Amino acid sequence: MYYPLARKLIFQLNPERAHDMIIDMFKRTGGTPLDLMYRQRIKDNPVEVMGLTFPNPVGLAAGLDKNGECIDAFGALGFGFIEVGTVTPRAQDGNPKPRIFRLVEAEGLINRMGFNNKGIDYLVEQVKGSNYNGVLGINIGKNLTTSVENGKDDYLICMDKAFEHADYITVNISSPNTPGLRTLQYGEALDDLLASLTERKQQLSAKFNKHVPLLIKIAPDLDESEIEQISDSLIRYQLDGVIATNTTLDRSMVDGMAHAAEAGGLSGRPVQLKSTEVIRKLDHYLNKKIPIVGVGGIDSAMAAKEKIQAGAQLVQLYSGFIYKGPKLIKEIAELL
Ligand code: FNR
Repeated sequence: MYYPLARKLIFQLNPERAHDMIIDMFKRTGGTPLDLMYRQRIKDNPVEVMGLTFPNPVGLAAGLDKNGECIDAFGALGFGFIEVGTVTPRAQDGNPKPRIFRLVEAEGLINRMGFNNKGIDYLVEQVKGSNYNGVLGINIGKNLTTSVENGKDDYLICMDKAFEHADYITVNISSPNTPGLRTLQYGEALDDLLASLTERKQQLSAKFNKHVPLLIKIAPDLDESEIEQISDSLIRYQLDGVIATNTTLDRSMVDGMAHAAEAGGLSGRPVQLKSTEVIRKLDHYLNKKIPIVGVGGIDSAMAAKEKIQAGAQLVQLYSGFIYKGPKLIKEIAELL
């Protein structure tokens, strides 16, 4: 596939319509002979992290396949791991449209989707119907109508339902588009959440006789002392991994550009250095005790390598995949 041409056509449409069309195409063609349109051969470059074997270290970040409808198609594109979700216990619509904006000159995106998804039961059915050989992560969140104080219950409901079907589970406490969610990253709220989740993980592990790593996904908008505190909590509760980072609220990199003032989380190249800095600090405070998945603005093999050099063991793509297309997966998998 010649992506620059495809991108020209895709970028004629508004971003959410383009997204829905691509998801629909992948949904129809994934797992069928038509996947030859986009299938790529990527040489195996297995890495062992968190007790799992990843065919290669390049993953799809959460939010692109929120309902797990295109797992086979993203597998055919060559991703070594795929993270579906964020999914919530009940289906919800998310925020009013428009809610995704392209900042083309910066190769960035701003989104305020607000966890639009079809609910955990639907997602589990999609996972059961897929034939992917790589590592499948399920990213979980809380419904908008559940208070932050009761947010823990939503994570536990999703964990119970996802456990049997996931290779790993990510707890998303860093979306800027669910009011109050990011407060779960701090102090007692974080400790309380981690205590409940790790206890439930042990029960589910025993019940299903299955190892399912539990990861936390954090924001790039954290200062050094906050990163130190989070690292300390992750070590105390023996989390299996941390994903750094989600989108940023910071607009300093895109000041004055069209759409820069839209509310939501900024991703893509403008968040690249900020994410890498968070990874570097996490690496320092975690001291190799907990693996890091690096995500944020990876738009080239070199940018992926910088994440690895900062301390990540695996990487994920979202915005870079939109701007650069499927060849980015191959380029990174071949360099790392
Ligand atoms: C996201 N991201 C995201 N993350 C998450 O944990 N759950 C989600 O539902 C979503 N949804 C979502 C939608 C859209 C439109 C975008 C652009 C992003 C964040 C994503 O997984 C990633 O962490 C950031 O976008 C940073 O990586 P990139 O995009 O700079 O490679």
